[in-house]
Amino acid sequence: MALNEWWKKAVVYQVYPRSFCDLNGDGVGDLRGILSKLDYFVWLGVDVLWLNPVFCSPMEDNGYDISDYYHVAEEFGTDEDLRALIGEAARRGIKILLDLVVNHCSSEHAWFQKALAKPECEEAGYFYFVSTQDGKRPNNWGSNFSGSVWEPVGDGRFYLHTFSPGQPDLNWENPKLREEIYKMINWWLDQGIAGFRVDAITFIKKDTTFQDRFPVNEQGFYPIEKLENCRGIGKFLGEMRDQCFAPRGAMTIAEAPGVPYEEFADYAGANGYFSMILDFSYPDMSRYLPGWSEEEFCARVRRSQLQAQERCWTAVFLESHDQPRSGDKYIPPDALDRYGDRPKKMLATLYFLLRGTPIIYQGQEIGMENAPFSSISDFRDASGIGRYTRAVEAGADPETELVFLRRSSRDNARTPMQWDESENAGFTRPDATPWIMTHPDSRARNVRAQRREGSLLEYYRSLTALRKDPVYGPVFVDGTFEEVVDAGRDALVYRRRLEDRQCLVACNFSGEEHGARLPHASWKVLLNNTRDVLMREGTLFLQPWQAVVLAEEK
Ligand code: GLC
Ligand code: CA
Repeated sequence: MALNEWWKKAVVYQVYPRSFCDLNGDGVGDLRGILSKLDYFVWLGVDVLWLNPVFCSPMEDNGYDISDYYHVAEEFGTDEDLRALIGEAARRGIKILLDLVVNHCSSEHAWFQKALAKPECEEAGYFYFVSTQDGKRPNNWGSNFSGSVWEPVGDGRFYLHTFSPGQPDLNWENPKLREEIYKMINWWLDQGIAGFRVDAITFIKKDTTFQDRFPVNEQGFYPIEKLENCRGIGKFLGEMRDQCFAPRGAMTIAEAPGVPYEEFADYAGANGYFSMILDFSYPDMSRYLPGWSEEEFCARVRRSQLQAQERCWTAVFLESHDQPRSGDKYIPPDALDRYGDRPKKMLATLYFLLRGTPIIYQGQEIGMENAPFSSISDFRDASGIGRYTRAVEAGADPETELVFLRRSSRDNARTPMQWDESENAGFTRPDATPWIMTHPDSRARNVRAQRREGSLLEYYRSLTALRKDPVYGPVFVDGTFEEVVDAGRDALVYRRRLEDRQCLVACNFSGEEHGARLPHASWKVLLNNTRDVLMREGTLFLQPWQAVVLAEEK
């Protein structure tokens, strides 16, 4: 590991500021709230916090629509609060990553407002405006948040938005725009942040012929997500690396969907555009989506690890602010009823010790679950509500659509962090109204209740400790990932090996017992999510949902 690659050793914790801790009681989480929890991160063994966007924004997409890149949104606090957070975190050895959203800004950004008012102005060239003679949309591309990517502005012009109409795409072909973006990135890096999680970055290059594409979906659109990672994107990404990230040694996590494994080296190899890339191949799976099986999940994890190890560094994760909770995505409800948090500990073991930088999404460490949203008015995420509304307008059955939304909604991961058993779970004052419902299970499932031996939270703490262990830590950070054959269909048994040390991670992704042949060695137990570890004559007998971490005895 090169000296400047400190982030390979790091444990990242993702904070969704809106829902983490509300100190002033307005129902929305804030920066002062995050600051008040810094000792929790130290206790948990976290090195880096990634904050979802905290910049000025009309919040149409909860901050992913930025109207001023240089200042903090009022509801999250002040610029001074952010400076204080960066400083106080640093005092505890914790680094901060902000969210870099530069595929698009907000339609309320001064650039866009000026471009609307004066079609001839320089800022109009920061966006994709296209005029048509017949008043029809320039083409048949469909946005990620349903509907067309084109929005009319009333004077014959349309502008392109990959996401919602409130998020006009920035025109990266324009060197002036790129210069503005790089200036902003460097300004933030100079404020003492460690780097960025980089949002939706594979959309920044467009097919500027803007031709119709086929085949179209049921709504008659060609999904723009099929145009991710468009040819020629490397010019922009390399330039951003050379002008911003590399000279300042920034840590960057790329949200770069649509990049095939063959190109992972370009994105996150030794001289890649970013420090690491997120692989969505298994986090995007769910029991409720076609293609699911435990076997396929394990196969995708294996493939991801083997492909990445040849080429690059990845960040490993199961949850985020865009995903339902992992217990709900991957574990059958009856297994959670019967075995409590054991399956969640198995999931934690499975991903946390892979090769890559692990990210814990807030609440994952206490096993937070999807929320029991009852009606459409309980939901907050505009993209989910939009999809629901369009479907119902087109004649779909509202109840069926609600069932789909409950399982898939991003709001599931956005309910308030559960700190204690009080009203509103300690997220905000008991008499305040959180911006989104608090999960009713917070009385039992919360940080305070889990500060005891045997809890999922303590288990996560053991995992972070294991990655920092003086003897075994280096094996989990720098060691190779190797498949261990004979693991059974829905079990994942892998080995991490560094020089003359090896560790073994065995996870049973099922309610059946599994026997796994171990490579010949004398093994000792480092971690186990169940009462006993049964090893006999070179075979490890895994109990339902059991996870065991072994090290070769020296
Ligand atoms: C990314 C973010 C998501 C956001 C979208 C548009 O996918 O993770 O939350 O809605 O980009 O910025
Ligand atoms: Ca607040």
